[in-house]
Amino acid sequence: MSYVSLAQRAVDFRSSFAIGGPRSPWTRYRGCSRNPARGIIVRSRTVKHDEAENGDTCFDRLSRNPLLLLSRTRRLPPKSLKQMPKLFENTVANLLKARFPLLYIQTWEEQRVIAQLTQIATDASKLKLPRKVFVWSSTRGLTGDGFARKEDTKSPLAMLDIVEQLADPALVILKDFHSLFGANNRPLDPNVVRRLRDIVPSLKQSPKPKTLVIVAPMLVLPHDLQKDVQVVDFDLPTFDEILAVLNDMIAANKTSGRITIDLKENDDKRLATAALGLTLQEAENAFARAMVEDGTLDVSDVDVILEEKQQIIRKTQILEFISSDLSIEDVGGLDNLKRWLVKRNRSWLEEARRYCLPHPKGVLITGVPGCGKSLIAKSISAMWKLPLLRLDIGRIFSGLIGSSEENVRTAIKTAEAIAPSVLWIDEIEKGFSGIGSTGDSGTATRVFGTFLTWMQEKTKPVFVIATANNIHSLPPEMLRKGRFDEIFFVDLPTSKERADILLLHIKKRLRDKQVIGNFKLDKGMLERFAQLTEGFVGAELENVVVAALFEAFSENRSITTDDFEKAIRNTVPLAVTQAEQIHAIRQWANLRAVSATSTEQRAEYTSAPAPPPPTAESADVSLTRGGRTVDF
Ligand SMILES: Nc1ncnc2c1ncn2[C@@H]1O[C@H](COP(=O)(O)OP(=O)(O)OP(=O)(O)O)[C@@H](O)[C@H]1O
Ligand SMILES: [Mg+2]
Repeated sequence: MSYVSLAQRAVDFRSSFAIGGPRSPWTRYRGCSRNPARGIIVRSRTVKHDEAENGDTCFDRLSRNPLLLLSRTRRLPPKSLKQMPKLFENTVANLLKARFPLLYIQTWEEQRVIAQLTQIATDASKLKLPRKVFVWSSTRGLTGDGFARKEDTKSPLAMLDIVEQLADPALVILKDFHSLFGANNRPLDPNVVRRLRDIVPSLKQSPKPKTLVIVAPMLVLPHDLQKDVQVVDFDLPTFDEILAVLNDMIAANKTSGRITIDLKENDDKRLATAALGLTLQEAENAFARAMVEDGTLDVSDVDVILEEKQQIIRKTQILEFISSDLSIEDVGGLDNLKRWLVKRNRSWLEEARRYCLPHPKGVLITGVPGCGKSLIAKSISAMWKLPLLRLDIGRIFSGLIGSSEENVRTAIKTAEAIAPSVLWIDEIEKGFSGIGSTGDSGTATRVFGTFLTWMQEKTKPVFVIATANNIHSLPPEMLRKGRFDEIFFVDLPTSKERADILLLHIKKRLRDKQVIGNFKLDKGMLERFAQLTEGFVGAELENVVVAALFEAFSENRSITTDDFEKAIRNTVPLAVTQAEQIHAIRQWANLRAVSATSTEQRAEYTSAPAPPPPTAESADVSLTRGGRTVDF
């Protein structure tokens, strides 16, 4: 048996424990025994002898690992089914009632989607004509609901013939069709596409309603089928679903005596919240790991689950879960932007509903490099106490991991699943700069479209914080109202801001008594440093502090004022070398963006746009500051 079909068999076996239906999963479960040396042995009465043997092998391999064993042994009819998201339930029920012949659901969670589809299709309160449910896979052919045909149904064409002749209302779930559509570097099978196109009208007209549902981990649709297929979104599990799984596991392990459960009121909810953003299977594994690691499940396991989640999310290679301990106090200056953010804190809570406030969509922060754009993005999550996900926009388009559209959908779903959350898109222009240009094959435009539509219509509290250096390459649609709540411009720090930033970094690093020696930082000295550093960006100011400390360190002595002054003299700020670019973005910002610096902090600078400098030499960027003046 090939590796691929072995793996599929393993998936089938696992699903057989979770899918409801006429044969109770409990019956199957009783057919298994646990052998300490070999893990779980599957002897299911519903599996033919030769299949059972193969099943033994792969299941055995999977289950000898205690972590997996624990998780597998509780693969029972999940209460979580009752917690099915209403949106999915209603959408599918309506599509079935409206007799849509062909649906496509993109998900990794075969078991969960099959279980939920089965529940919808067999529920007489939802459908006047409940459907029989069948599942087709390339390894097992057509199975389910009393299906006992002798024919080989492993061929997709043979299966579709049989489906067309079925006498009862049916819902047929098709696994593996994405491979026939050309995924996994396989050639597209034109006969299957043709047969599907032929069957669509006959399913529509059939006296008994029948629907085919393709379930696949990736969205691959041949062009010819695009008008016939309805794509249905299947979100990651909700809080209630995850909590139900956790409670199932707690109930199963409480009595066994192997695991101590030490949870106070609401601790289970905190554990479930920590697992949001994972698939049901991943959440289960994370809980299992939390249980087996020290034999106890208590609230401290939130950390184990978060760590597991970080790893799983990192594996997507597009998103990174950032745990930052930076707070808003670590950002010097930018008062206006900070105030705007403070006003929106807790806007996702119920209290905000009393004011009928929408969830804030997000901000776009642009400006001079090194002035704290990324820094403030990281500090928002600590200020708002929300999880922070960083989206690597470059990777979405890299082609290394899945298709670009799928990647952006995955990222959106993950951020929504852990909402309220902050989604940080650093250097957004890198992904969306080529939109509409001749070199673009249309992918970037489609991904961009998906993203914009989501930004405009999202209902879940996912706050998007996008940072951009080069706004000129951003498509204008992105900047239109309704996408971001506000566009902020971060300019070179003003003298008050420089004093703030210097003080912050000096306090952060200058802690040791011996290093401090006789050095006393008073207001006058700070103001003097601020004067001397006109035109420096935040990163350069931080470097001044570091360089001064190196002077003292290299001579093994306390720090002095001279060290700072020397470090300042030795720095050639970016504003000198890139004056022209800074002028250009200021002109842009004066029309479109709000200054991140408050009026008080930029009192000594004019805000009138300077005329464009003819040459780099004549451009003095130190007298003005850009961005519209709107104080929050
Ligand atoms: N306003 C600030 N307050 C305190 N530190 C700052 C500030 N601005 C910059 N820094 C320091 O400079 C470092 C670099 O800043 P950051 O990465 O946030 O800049 P950026 O605007 O994102 O730059 P880039 O456009 O190059 O990505 C920060 O880690 C921080 O130490
Ligand atoms: Mg940055």
